[in-house]
Amino acid sequence: MLPTYSFYKNAFQGQPKPFAFVDLDLFDRNVKDILSRAKDKKIRIASKSLRSVSLMKRILEYDPQYQGIMCFTAPEAAWLASLGFDDLLVAYPTCHPEHIMMVAEHIKKGKKIYLMTDKVEHLQRINDIGKQRKVIIPVCLDLDMSSKFPGLYFGVYRSSVNSVASAKEYLDRLADFPFVSLKGVMGYEAQIAGLGNNFKGQKIKNSVIKLLQSSSIMEISARRKKVVQLVVDSVGSLDFVNGGGTGSIEITREEEHVTEIAVGSGFYTPTLFDNYGKFKHHPAAGYAIEIVRQPQKNVYTCLGGGYVASGALGADKLPTPYLPEGCSFYVNEMAGEVQTPLIYKGEENLKIGDPVFLRHSKAGELCERFNHLLLLQNGEVVEKIPTYRGDGKCFL
Ligand SMILES: Cc1ncc(COP(=O)(O)O)c(C=O)c1O
Repeated sequence: MLPTYSFYKNAFQGQPKPFAFVDLDLFDRNVKDILSRAKDKKIRIASKSLRSVSLMKRILEYDPQYQGIMCFTAPEAAWLASLGFDDLLVAYPTCHPEHIMMVAEHIKKGKKIYLMTDKVEHLQRINDIGKQRKVIIPVCLDLDMSSKFPGLYFGVYRSSVNSVASAKEYLDRLADFPFVSLKGVMGYEAQIAGLGNNFKGQKIKNSVIKLLQSSSIMEISARRKKVVQLVVDSVGSLDFVNGGGTGSIEITREEEHVTEIAVGSGFYTPTLFDNYGKFKHHPAAGYAIEIVRQPQKNVYTCLGGGYVASGALGADKLPTPYLPEGCSFYVNEMAGEVQTPLIYKGEENLKIGDPVFLRHSKAGELCERFNHLLLLQNGEVVEKIPTYRGDGKCFL
C-alpha cells in the first residue's frame, strides 16, 4: 500500500513549503527490487538521476553488487573523487582541456575515472592532457545502440561508432594516442531502457512499441557482442562492459558479455517510469507546494510548482499532481512558475496552508530545483540532506 495524503500531510507538518522529499521506505524497496531484477550483474549508479551524495552512498552501502558511479560530467567526477568516491565513468564526452585536466589530477592520485569517447577528436584531446600531465587516462568506447528500421530511426543520436566497421576504424587509431588506454565499452539502448511500453489505455501504441523493441533487442545485442569481441581482441581485457538503464534491466542482464548495468531513475521512480510492463517500482520522490488561495469552489491555487522536465515536447514532461488523489491542472495554466491552480473535488477538506504533493516526470532534475531533500522514514522526517544544488554544484 502506498502512503495516503493524510500520512504525508501529518509527516511533513510544519515544514516550510515548497520542499522536495524522498520517502526512504519506498526508496529502500526500490534499491532492493532493482538489485533482484539485475540478477548477477553489477549495477553502476547513474548519478544524473539522483543528484544527491548521501543517497548514492546509501545505495553503495546497501550491497557490494552496487559498484561505481556513472557521472554526467568530468567536473562532477572530479568532485565525487575528492569526496572519496571511486570507479567513476563519465558517460558523455569531455572536450574542454580544463575539465580533462581535473580528471587527470585525480587519476594521478590513484582514482579510477574513465572518460567517454567515440571520435578521434576525443582521443586527441585526452591524449594531449595525458601527455602534459604524464598520466595515462583510461577511456571508454561509446557504442551506438540505436536501430534503423525502414523509415524509422529507433534510438537516440549519440555515438558515431555504430557498427563493427566503425569500431574497427576507432580501434585502428588508438595506437596514435599513447596516453589513452581503452578500458571499457558502453552501449546505452535508450529505445528499450528509456521508453515505456505499458501506457494506460493505449493498447495499439503499446503493441507497436513492444514490436519495435523486440526487433531492436536482437539486432543490438548481436552488435554489442561482435564489437566487444573485436575490442577485447584488440586491447586485451576490459574493466567493464556497461549497458542498459532502469527500463531495460531484464533485457540487458541476459547479454553474457555485459558486466554491469547503469541504473538511476528507478530509485526515485518519477512518473515516466510508471509505464513499463516488466517491472513496477515505487514513487519514492516528490515535492510539496502550498495552497495559498481558493479563487472559487473546488479550485485551489498553490505557490510555485512548475518544474517541467527536459526532452521532446509533450504533456508527459509536466509534473503530475499526486496527492490528494484526484487533483488536476487547468489546461490553460498547468504547473506555473509562481501560481499553480488545481481542481479538486475529492473528500479531503483542503484549506489555505495545506500541501499538495506532486511528482516530477524525470528523476534527477527535481534536485536542480531544491537545495535539500527531506528524508522521510516510518512517517517521520529523519534528515534534511543537500542535493547537488544544495552542495553548491550545478553541472548541467
Ligand atoms: C548512458 C546512459 N546510461 C544509462 C542511463 C539510464 O539511466 P536511468 O536508469 O536513469 O534511466 C542513461 C540515461 O539517460 C544514460 O544516458
